[in-house]
Amino acid sequence: MTQLMPPLDDLLVTDEEANNLTYFAFAKSHKAEPALAPTKASVGEMPDVLAGRYRIERLLGAGGMGAVYRARDLLSEQFGDPDPYIALKILSEEFAESPDASALLYSEFALTRRLRHDNVLRLHSFEVDTDCQRAFITMELMRGLTLDKLLCERPLGLPWKELRDIALPLLDALAFAHARGVLHGDMKPSNVMLSEEGVRLFDFGLGQAEEGILPGLPHLSRNRFNAWTPGYAAPELLEGQPLSASADVYGVACVLYELAGGKHPFRRLPSTEARDGHLERELHAPRNLPKHCWPALRTALAFNAADRTITAAQLRDAMGATSTWLQRLRLRA
Ligand SMILES: Nc1ncnc2c1ncn2[C@@H]1O[C@H](COP(=O)(O)OP(=O)(O)O)[C@@H](O)[C@H]1O
Ligand SMILES: [Mg+2]
Repeated sequence: MTQLMPPLDDLLVTDEEANNLTYFAFAKSHKAEPALAPTKASVGEMPDVLAGRYRIERLLGAGGMGAVYRARDLLSEQFGDPDPYIALKILSEEFAESPDASALLYSEFALTRRLRHDNVLRLHSFEVDTDCQRAFITMELMRGLTLDKLLCERPLGLPWKELRDIALPLLDALAFAHARGVLHGDMKPSNVMLSEEGVRLFDFGLGQAEEGILPGLPHLSRNRFNAWTPGYAAPELLEGQPLSASADVYGVACVLYELAGGKHPFRRLPSTEARDGHLERELHAPRNLPKHCWPALRTALAFNAADRTITAAQLRDAMGATSTWLQRLRLRA
């Protein structure tokens, strides 16, 4: 039988090694590439191995406050995990020492962790590398495409069947978040991933909990760090109103419209500009959207929050429903 665990003596670390260890305090590496002794980095500087455990491999994406890397979890690898790869989101150097930035990253972690849903990206842990004093989140690694990349590959949009397979899980995830009192705040194509394992909504970095949910989290002003994304943020957000479920509905409606015809509903203009230019007058149903879904999507795209009288769950139901003539045809068959 193959010996899965090294002998007990080998699991004990020497005092010298222990000084460098956090998570590896009990497990001594017996592989060619040890997880021990990460290269010492000065405060802020990014080391090769974070928290004695995560070897940074490559950059996956960078945004306002930080970057996302693909990393190898050396601990899981040591224990024979066939897929020790994870994604790791870490604050960039300029934000590394700001307690507010770390609190925002923690808030993203706490909000997302509240959402155990197949279509919300799964997070593993929130950690701090004590050497470089940077906070980071570890999470499942998605091997796929964000919707903005998908749109680059499919500039005419997706046929209804493909669109439906993205729209329904995405709306399910958003409706679930809202039902759990979590608002996303940054619905846009680059915050949705598509892979063989399905659709995942992520990046709750501008998210907020509804009143009374997660009361211990500090209430931080997102605007201090990161502005809303003008082409997807509802007009009331750009005008300083607080984030709401209805604002998320506007953002997701822009995403769905774009997927259905390859074009943003309002030429990617900030929603306030689009509203002031009366661009809703030019709005027509995107080519791949069945007629019976259009009234719901159009309502979701209303500039005025009071006219946006549809929830994510209702939009999901409208997109999931079959049209009445199709139903009749099926009944006759
Ligand atoms: N778990 C993940 N697996 C693979 N790629 C990811 C993952 N999380 C983020 N990315 C990539 O990194 C980019 C930035 O991540 P995101 O969380 O949106 O950060 P930001 O807050 O900077 O926008 C994404 O658009 C995506 O390309
Ligand atoms: Mg993002």
